[in-house]
Amino acid sequence: MSPAPLPPGPHHPLLQTLLFQRDAPLFCQKRLSRYGDPFTAPLLVGNVVITGHPDGVRDIFSAEPSLFEPFVDVPLAPALGEHSLILLGGARHKRERKLLMPPFHGERMRAHGQLMQAIALRAASTLHPEHPFRALRLTQDISLEVIIHVVFGVEEPERVRRFRDVMAGYLDAYTPLLMIAVPLRRSFGGLGPWARFQRRFAALDALLTEQLALRRGHEAGHTDILSLLLSARDEAGQPMTDEELKDELRTLLIAGHETTAIGMAWALYWTHHLPEVRRKLLEELAPLGPVPAPEALTRLPYLSAVCDEALRIHPVVPLVSRRTRAPFSLRGHELPPGTGLMAAVSVVHSNPELYPQPERFLPERFLERRFSPFEYLPFGGGARRCIGATFALHEMRIVLGSLLASHRFALAENGPVRPVQRSITLGPAGGVKMRYEGPSQAAAA
Ligand code: HEM
Repeated sequence: MSPAPLPPGPHHPLLQTLLFQRDAPLFCQKRLSRYGDPFTAPLLVGNVVITGHPDGVRDIFSAEPSLFEPFVDVPLAPALGEHSLILLGGARHKRERKLLMPPFHGERMRAHGQLMQAIALRAASTLHPEHPFRALRLTQDISLEVIIHVVFGVEEPERVRRFRDVMAGYLDAYTPLLMIAVPLRRSFGGLGPWARFQRRFAALDALLTEQLALRRGHEAGHTDILSLLLSARDEAGQPMTDEELKDELRTLLIAGHETTAIGMAWALYWTHHLPEVRRKLLEELAPLGPVPAPEALTRLPYLSAVCDEALRIHPVVPLVSRRTRAPFSLRGHELPPGTGLMAAVSVVHSNPELYPQPERFLPERFLERRFSPFEYLPFGGGARRCIGATFALHEMRIVLGSLLASHRFALAENGPVRPVQRSITLGPAGGVKMRYEGPSQAAAA
């Protein structure tokens, strides 16, 4: 018997890939209305079956994890390393997640609140009323510094500066072109983008080796994630090797830096684009004074709803992907092993039955009802759900709450800001231009 055909969809892989890369959310939205849910997108990387329906998302997220493996490792593999959680499947993925998850537990996050706040306020203190700034630049600086301290356990200011420079160089050198154009990944006599990336990768690697040597044996009493990973043991009582640790540190940097920065930049944008949202947020913050206790910020309902809504209206990662390892049924369609699968987060998040007036930024929707993991999925789901979700939400609330309680900002944009594709994430076009308007009334008093 021949295998069941894949769900319907368009033809012409080259054209479809170009359209997918230009605007993935729109690509999915249009084809789902035309071909039904799920549909098959013929991309250059192979056929991918895409769903944007909560039932399809449920099928994927609640399936037995051994049915899937990562979809493509080609774009990110050179930047991460072969032991990276993102690239692993099966039993190795399960083991690695068990080792990595405990340091990201909600309770552990309490230890980092003061530091997150101090980093945010220090970054804001460099702003000047006469110099407009880009919100994304500010939040990238903050989220990079948070990772250097909280994840990598670097404390001394001089070493923090070194890490910042080396990491920024490494992130910068891994260009979107290198991600997709595999033939470019060779050195042209020590010249070209690949050679440059290799040099910066080596510089970061050397710094990571040094950091492991400094931290190893001195983990006790430290709450940074590297220290906790150094003491972690798997079921056979084995610690992580240096190569595993370094690959995971690079993974946490790549997965956690830009994503959280974009989430915070959107939250800043919307709070200043809509005066009513800003007013409500300031009203909620007012009783906490100019420098609220970080723990109190994480419990404010409206502030949390603003962050949740920012990740709903513009999901930073618009699609999450898998590849089937065995026959799999998606909304009644039987898919053979080796089929690419994607859940279109952006489509689920703009479903008017779940989110009335989906194009409007309405934090109240998160105060009025709870959404299931198949209806609200900015962090993906199932056995591969983002391990940094609590970390990111904690940071977003503390940074946004602290900035707004002690400073005043205004938008310096002439019109609405749209999302654009930035390598593997979707972020605000132009980075959101803003003006600094001085200390808040409470801070000035
Ligand atoms: C707003 C910020 C963030 C967003 C929107 C986000 C989103 C995501 C998404 C959509 C996935 C894929 C999940 C799936 O396939 O089902 C993911 C995976 C992952 N994220 Fe995040 N993330 C954020 C912040 C972070 C942070 C702060 C860290 C760590 C410091 C982190 C570490 C990871 C890791 C390691 C994975 C791979 C998990 C696996 O394959 O098992 N993320 N994230």
